[in-house]
Amino acid sequence: MNSVSSALSDHSAARSGMQSFDIEKVRRDFPILSRQVHGKPLVYFDTAASAQRPLAVIEATDRFYLRHNANVHRGVHLLSQEATDLYESARHGLARFINARSDREVIFTRGTTESINLVAQSFLRPLLAPGDEILITHMEHHSNIVPWQMVCEQTGASLKVAPINEHGELEMEALESMLSERVKLLGIVQISNALGTVNPVQRVCQLAKKFSIPVLVDGAQAMPHQQVDVQALGCDFYCLSGHKMYGPTGIGALWAPEEILEDMPPWQGGGEMITQVTFERTTYNELPAKFEAGTPNIAGSIGLGAAVDYLNSLGMDAIASHESRLLETATRRLSEVEDLRIIGTARHKAGVISFTLGDIHPHDLGTVIDHHGVALRTGHHCAMPVMQFFNVPATARVSFGLYNTEEEIDILIDALQKTRGMFG
Ligand SMILES: Cc1ncc(COP(=O)(O)O)c(C=O)c1O
Repeated sequence: MNSVSSALSDHSAARSGMQSFDIEKVRRDFPILSRQVHGKPLVYFDTAASAQRPLAVIEATDRFYLRHNANVHRGVHLLSQEATDLYESARHGLARFINARSDREVIFTRGTTESINLVAQSFLRPLLAPGDEILITHMEHHSNIVPWQMVCEQTGASLKVAPINEHGELEMEALESMLSERVKLLGIVQISNALGTVNPVQRVCQLAKKFSIPVLVDGAQAMPHQQVDVQALGCDFYCLSGHKMYGPTGIGALWAPEEILEDMPPWQGGGEMITQVTFERTTYNELPAKFEAGTPNIAGSIGLGAAVDYLNSLGMDAIASHESRLLETATRRLSEVEDLRIIGTARHKAGVISFTLGDIHPHDLGTVIDHHGVALRTGHHCAMPVMQFFNVPATARVSFGLYNTEEEIDILIDALQKTRGMFG
C-alpha cells in the first residue's frame, strides 16, 4: 500500500498536466475513429453512453493477456505476482487521480451501478428504519434511483426527490428545505447524462453536513470531463465507471473514506474477502479486499489504470477546455436549426446536449443521422423521470469526448438540416 503523502504529491502533478491539446494527434490514439460507417467517416457523438478506447488502453489489456495473465493475490509464482502488481498499481493510479487518501479507499466494482448497489445494501440498509428518508434529485440516472427504491422496500424507508427547474438545474432552496435528521443518505449526480447539467456538488455536501447526512456522488459522467477531487468535494461515496472514462467495460470503482468502509459489513461473500474460514465462523479481509469477493476483473482494472494514465498525459484541464469549446459551438449551431429544442439549458453544463427536432421521433432522427456516419443516442437515456419532467418521450443526445472536433459539429448540423428537409 502506498502512503498518503505520495498520493497527494502525485495528484498535484497530475493536476498541472500538459495543457496544449493537439486534436489530430489525440485522434490518432483512437484507431476506431478512422473507420467508416455506411460509407461515411465515423462521427462519434455517443461518448456519454460509452467512450472509445485509446490504443494505450487496448494495448495494456492485450499485454496483460499476452504476457502476465494469472490470478491475483494468490500465487507465489512470477506471473501471479506480476498480475497482482499490475492490478494494484492500477488501483494506486486511480486513487491518485481522484485524490483518495489511500489505495485502501478504492474498491474495484463492475461500475457505477454496482458501486451504488454496494452502498445501498452494505452501508445504508442496516441503518434504515420506517420513517427514514433517502433524498435524491429529479435528474438522476436509473442507477441512482432504483437501488434506493429497492432498499426502501426492504426497510420501510421512503424516497424523496429534490425538484429541478425548466432549465434542468437543481432547485437548491427546495433541496435545502428537504434536509433533516430523517434523511439517512443523499444521492446526487455530478453531471447529468440526460441534460448535461453540472450540479453544485460541493455546496450540496456542505449543506448535507449540517445534518450529518452522508452524500453519495454519481460520478459516471464527471470523470471523463473534469478533474475530480473526492476530498475537495466533501462527499462520502464516489461512484465511477471505467468505460465512460476511456477504459474497458465491466470495471469501475467505489471510493469512500477508510473509516466508513471499515465500519461497513461485506456485501458479497466468497474468496479473497476473508482471512479465516471455518464452518462456525469467518473473519473478513482488510480493505479493499473485504469488498472484492471472488476473482476480480483483472484485465479491466489494468485497462482502467491505463485510461487514467492516458487522461493524465493529456491533462484534465486541457480536456475540459477543449470540450467546453465544443459545447459552446454546438449549442450555438444547434440553436440555429429551425424547430430544434434543446432540453437542458443549465448555466453550468458539460459534455452533453439533448434535443428534439420538430415532430420527428428521436429514434427516426437517430436512424437517419446514422446514415450520415453520425452516432448519437436517442431514447430516455436511463432517466425516464427527466423525460417525464420535460414532457417528451425521448430525446436525441449529442455527447462529446476529448476526440471530437468542430468539423464534426458541421457534419452533425448538415445531417440534421437534411433530415429536417426529408421529414418535411
Ligand atoms: C449519470 C450516470 N450514472 C450512472 C450510470 C450507470 O453507469 P454503468 O452502466 O457504467 O454502471 C450512467 C451510465 O450511463 C450514467 O450516465
